Amino acid sequence: MIIEPVQASEKAALLALAVDTGLFSAEDAEGLLGTIVDSFSNNELPSQHAVVVCRDFQGGPVVGWSYFAPDHYAEDVWNVWWIGVAPKRHGTGPGRALLSFVEKAVAEARGRVIVIETSDQDFLSCARKFYTKAGYNERGRIPDFYSKDESKVIFSRSFKDTV
Ligand SMILES: CC(C)(COP(=O)(O)OP(=O)(O)OC[C@H]1O[C@@H](n2cnc3c(N)ncnc32)[C@H](O)[C@@H]1OP(=O)(O)O)[C@@H](O)C(=O)NCCC(=O)NCCS
Repeated sequence: MIIEPVQASEKAALLALAVDTGLFSAEDAEGLLGTIVDSFSNNELPSQHAVVVCRDFQGGPVVGWSYFAPDHYAEDVWNVWWIGVAPKRHGTGPGRALLSFVEKAVAEARGRVIVIETSDQDFLSCARKFYTKAGYNERGRIPDFYSKDESKVIFSRSFKDTV
Protein backbone atom coordinates (compact mmCIF):
# COMPACT_ATOMS: atom_id res chain seq x y z
CA MET A 1 0.00 0.00 0.00
CA ILE A 2 1.11 3.53 -0.70
CA ILE A 3 0.80 6.31 1.87
CA GLU A 4 1.45 9.83 0.64
CA PRO A 5 0.24 13.44 1.07
CA VAL A 6 -3.20 14.17 -0.33
CA GLN A 7 -3.62 16.01 -3.64
CA ALA A 8 -5.85 19.10 -3.58
CA SER A 9 -8.06 17.56 -6.30
CA GLU A 10 -8.95 14.67 -3.97
CA LYS A 11 -10.86 16.69 -1.39
CA ALA A 12 -14.28 15.47 -2.54
CA ALA A 13 -13.16 11.84 -2.40
CA LEU A 14 -11.84 12.31 1.14
CA LEU A 15 -15.05 13.91 2.35
CA ALA A 16 -17.17 11.21 0.66
CA LEU A 17 -15.10 8.52 2.38
CA ALA A 18 -15.60 10.23 5.76
CA VAL A 19 -19.37 10.39 5.17
CA ASP A 20 -19.38 6.71 4.10
CA THR A 21 -17.93 5.70 7.49
CA GLY A 22 -21.15 7.00 9.05
CA LEU A 23 -19.31 9.32 11.43
CA PHE A 24 -20.08 12.57 9.60
CA SER A 25 -22.97 14.17 7.82
CA ALA A 26 -21.98 15.77 4.50
CA GLU A 27 -22.28 19.16 6.17
CA ASP A 28 -20.06 18.22 9.13
CA ALA A 29 -17.49 16.59 6.84
CA GLU A 30 -17.22 19.77 4.81
CA GLY A 31 -17.05 22.01 7.89
CA LEU A 32 -14.71 19.91 10.02
CA LEU A 33 -12.56 18.05 7.51
CA GLY A 34 -12.93 20.06 4.30
CA THR A 35 -11.33 23.07 5.90
CA ILE A 36 -8.35 20.99 6.99
CA VAL A 37 -7.85 19.46 3.54
CA ASP A 38 -8.09 22.91 1.94
CA SER A 39 -5.66 24.42 4.42
CA PHE A 40 -3.19 21.56 3.99
CA SER A 41 -3.37 21.82 0.20
CA ASN A 42 -2.75 25.57 0.41
CA ASN A 43 0.15 25.13 2.85
CA GLU A 44 -1.80 27.04 5.48
CA LEU A 45 -1.65 24.48 8.29
CA PRO A 46 0.98 24.89 11.00
CA SER A 47 4.29 23.13 10.52
CA GLN A 48 4.20 19.30 10.57
CA HIS A 49 0.41 19.01 10.29
CA ALA A 50 -0.18 16.32 7.68
CA VAL A 51 -3.05 14.91 5.64
CA VAL A 52 -2.06 11.57 4.12
CA VAL A 53 -3.93 9.10 1.97
CA CYS A 54 -3.65 5.36 1.48
CA ARG A 55 -3.90 3.78 -2.00
CA ASP A 56 -3.46 0.22 -3.19
CA PHE A 57 -1.17 1.33 -6.01
CA GLN A 58 0.41 4.51 -7.38
CA GLY A 59 -2.31 6.75 -8.82
CA GLY A 60 -5.10 4.51 -7.47
CA PRO A 61 -8.17 5.72 -5.61
CA VAL A 62 -8.01 6.71 -1.95
CA VAL A 63 -8.99 3.81 0.32
CA GLY A 64 -8.26 5.60 3.60
CA TRP A 65 -6.83 8.81 5.01
CA SER A 66 -5.57 10.43 8.16
CA TYR A 67 -4.91 13.86 9.61
CA PHE A 68 -2.25 14.05 12.32
CA ALA A 69 -0.28 16.82 13.94
CA PRO A 70 1.95 17.74 16.87
CA ASP A 71 0.17 18.98 19.97
CA HIS A 72 1.21 22.59 20.37
CA TYR A 73 0.41 22.56 24.09
CA ALA A 74 2.69 19.64 24.98
CA GLU A 75 6.26 18.63 24.35
CA ASP A 76 6.78 16.00 21.63
CA VAL A 77 3.19 14.80 21.82
CA TRP A 78 1.22 14.17 18.61
CA ASN A 79 -2.50 13.80 17.95
CA VAL A 80 -4.18 11.65 15.35
CA TRP A 81 -7.20 13.83 14.70
CA TRP A 82 -8.78 11.56 12.10
CA ILE A 83 -8.23 8.16 10.57
CA GLY A 84 -10.80 6.55 8.31
CA VAL A 85 -10.98 3.74 5.79
CA ALA A 86 -13.60 3.11 3.10
CA PRO A 87 -16.14 0.70 4.66
CA LYS A 88 -15.74 -1.92 1.93
CA ARG A 89 -12.03 -2.06 2.81
CA HIS A 90 -12.38 -2.37 6.60
CA GLY A 91 -10.30 -5.20 7.98
CA THR A 92 -8.03 -5.39 4.92
CA GLY A 93 -5.06 -3.39 6.18
CA PRO A 94 -5.36 0.30 5.20
CA GLY A 95 -5.93 1.48 8.77
CA ARG A 96 -2.84 -0.32 10.03
CA ALA A 97 -0.80 0.99 7.08
CA LEU A 98 -1.89 4.56 7.83
CA LEU A 99 -1.22 4.29 11.56
CA SER A 100 2.21 2.75 10.92
CA PHE A 101 3.02 5.67 8.63
CA VAL A 102 1.95 8.14 11.33
CA GLU A 103 4.05 6.33 13.94
CA LYS A 104 7.12 6.39 11.69
CA ALA A 105 6.64 10.12 11.00
CA VAL A 106 6.26 10.82 14.71
CA ALA A 107 9.33 8.74 15.56
CA GLU A 108 11.36 10.57 12.92
CA ALA A 109 10.24 13.87 14.47
CA ARG A 110 11.34 12.51 17.87
CA GLY A 111 7.80 12.44 19.19
CA ARG A 112 7.29 10.64 22.50
CA VAL A 113 3.55 10.07 22.67
CA ILE A 114 0.67 9.67 20.22
CA VAL A 115 -2.81 10.47 21.48
CA ILE A 116 -6.01 9.31 19.77
CA GLU A 117 -9.46 10.24 21.00
CA THR A 118 -12.68 8.51 20.13
CA SER A 119 -16.15 7.95 21.47
CA ASP A 120 -17.55 5.20 23.70
CA GLN A 121 -20.48 4.47 21.37
CA ASP A 122 -21.05 0.85 20.34
CA PHE A 123 -20.59 1.56 16.65
CA LEU A 124 -17.03 2.73 17.40
CA SER A 125 -16.00 -0.47 19.17
CA CYS A 126 -14.17 -1.40 15.94
CA ALA A 127 -12.01 1.71 16.25
CA ARG A 128 -11.29 1.03 19.93
CA LYS A 129 -10.28 -2.57 19.13
CA PHE A 130 -8.16 -1.34 16.25
CA TYR A 131 -6.26 1.07 18.53
CA THR A 132 -5.81 -1.57 21.22
CA LYS A 133 -4.44 -4.05 18.68
CA ALA A 134 -2.03 -1.40 17.47
CA GLY A 135 -0.55 -1.03 20.98
CA TYR A 136 -2.53 1.96 22.26
CA ASN A 137 -3.82 1.91 25.84
CA GLU A 138 -7.01 3.46 27.05
CA ARG A 139 -6.01 6.26 29.46
CA GLY A 140 -9.37 7.55 30.53
CA ARG A 141 -12.89 8.65 29.68
CA ILE A 142 -14.67 11.98 29.97
CA PRO A 143 -18.38 11.35 30.53
CA ASP A 144 -21.00 13.31 28.55
CA PHE A 145 -18.25 14.87 26.42
CA TYR A 146 -19.53 14.70 22.84
CA SER A 147 -23.13 14.83 23.98
CA LYS A 148 -25.18 13.65 26.93
CA ASP A 149 -24.34 9.96 27.48
CA GLU A 150 -21.52 9.97 24.91
CA SER A 151 -18.08 9.84 26.51
CA LYS A 152 -14.71 10.73 25.07
CA VAL A 153 -12.28 7.79 25.26
CA ILE A 154 -8.60 8.71 25.24
CA PHE A 155 -5.94 6.32 23.96
CA SER A 156 -2.21 6.84 23.85
CA ARG A 157 0.97 5.03 22.99
CA SER A 158 4.40 6.06 24.22
CA PHE A 159 7.52 5.56 22.17
CA LYS A 160 11.05 5.19 23.31
CA ASP A 161 13.21 4.40 20.29
CA THR A 162 11.27 1.39 19.16
CA VAL A 163 9.36 2.53 16.07
C1 LIG B 1 -10.95 1.89 12.61
C2 LIG B 1 -10.46 1.78 11.15
C3 LIG B 1 -9.67 3.02 10.80
C4 LIG B 1 -9.53 0.55 11.07
O1 LIG B 1 -9.02 0.48 9.74
P1 LIG B 1 -9.01 -0.91 8.96
O2 LIG B 1 -8.33 -0.70 7.65
O3 LIG B 1 -10.37 -1.46 8.95
O4 LIG B 1 -8.08 -1.79 9.92
P2 LIG B 1 -7.00 -2.87 9.45
O5 LIG B 1 -7.62 -3.74 8.40
O6 LIG B 1 -5.72 -2.21 9.11
O7 LIG B 1 -6.84 -3.74 10.77
C5 LIG B 1 -5.74 -3.57 11.66
C6 LIG B 1 -5.97 -4.45 12.86
O8 LIG B 1 -7.12 -4.01 13.58
C7 LIG B 1 -8.05 -5.07 13.65
N1 LIG B 1 -9.40 -4.58 13.46
C8 LIG B 1 -9.82 -3.72 12.50
N2 LIG B 1 -11.14 -3.57 12.61
C9 LIG B 1 -11.54 -4.36 13.64
C10 LIG B 1 -12.80 -4.66 14.22
N3 LIG B 1 -13.93 -4.15 13.75
N4 LIG B 1 -12.84 -5.52 15.26
C11 LIG B 1 -11.71 -6.09 15.74
N5 LIG B 1 -10.49 -5.86 15.22
C12 LIG B 1 -10.42 -5.00 14.18
C13 LIG B 1 -7.71 -6.00 12.51
O9 LIG B 1 -8.13 -7.34 12.77
C14 LIG B 1 -6.21 -5.89 12.46
O10 LIG B 1 -5.62 -6.70 13.45
P3 LIG B 1 -4.49 -7.77 13.03
O11 LIG B 1 -3.36 -6.95 12.48
O12 LIG B 1 -4.18 -8.46 14.30
O13 LIG B 1 -5.13 -8.63 11.99
C15 LIG B 1 -11.62 1.56 10.16
O14 LIG B 1 -12.37 0.45 10.56
C16 LIG B 1 -12.54 2.75 10.01
O15 LIG B 1 -12.32 3.59 9.17
N6 LIG B 1 -13.63 2.80 10.80
C17 LIG B 1 -14.62 3.87 10.65
C18 LIG B 1 -14.05 5.22 10.95
C19 LIG B 1 -13.53 5.26 12.36
O16 LIG B 1 -14.07 4.68 13.27
N7 LIG B 1 -12.44 6.02 12.52
C20 LIG B 1 -11.89 6.28 13.80
C21 LIG B 1 -12.59 7.49 14.32
S1 LIG B 1 -12.26 7.70 16.03
